[in-house]
Amino acid sequence: MKQVGKINIGVLASGSGTNLQAIIDAAEAGRIDAEVRVVISDVAKAYALARARKAGIPAVFVERNMFSSRREFEGAITAVLNEHGVELVCLAGFMRIIGKALLDAFPNRIINIHPALLPSFPGLHAQKQALEHGVKIAGCTVHVVDVETDHGPIISQAAVEVKEGDTPDTLADRILREEHRIYPEAIQLFAHGRLRIEGRRVYITNHESRNGGFE
Ligand code: GRF
Repeated sequence: MKQVGKINIGVLASGSGTNLQAIIDAAEAGRIDAEVRVVISDVAKAYALARARKAGIPAVFVERNMFSSRREFEGAITAVLNEHGVELVCLAGFMRIIGKALLDAFPNRIINIHPALLPSFPGLHAQKQALEHGVKIAGCTVHVVDVETDHGPIISQAAVEVKEGDTPDTLADRILREEHRIYPEAIQLFAHGRLRIEGRRVYITNHESRNGGFE
């Protein structure tokens, strides 16, 4: 029988890291064939780093101000990711624009979760944008990262109904629950090599490829 190996993940997070936690939990429970090898943050006090340490995962703070350019900052992040053998980079609330240096180091190997049904409401405060626009269905998106923010090919989405009386916070909470479900699922598809990108479309295939990644 074909053996499907585990892929090594690096997570980049700037905040509380509930998506990171969902990924760690899924990996520990054996629900995904992946291992979080390192967590990197640009925020020294990010709770995501504490979550990593609690799980026994190397937690690395990389300070943007230590570098004179984004290229050098991303070079330092790339070095840490490579040091830990990372094959897939998962952005989980990483509040920085990803530049060419990191994209070139991990072509089609950086994915992100965004709390809106892209291409609607990219950027900051997506849940507030959705409410203010008056949509009835909100949601979240896992996508491949490209040069434009919240833009690359879409791997998966989940819809969340907007309720009367929702505030940005109540809506964000319900969207987060879906994020915690679809992000590990998308990682599992990647780990099993079941994703194929054609232009903007990501197809989910039934056959697995041994090394993971995009077909
Ligand atoms: C999530 O809403 C995610 O979609 C967005 O940033 C937030 C991060 O939350 N990119 P957490 O740090 O995972 O709790």
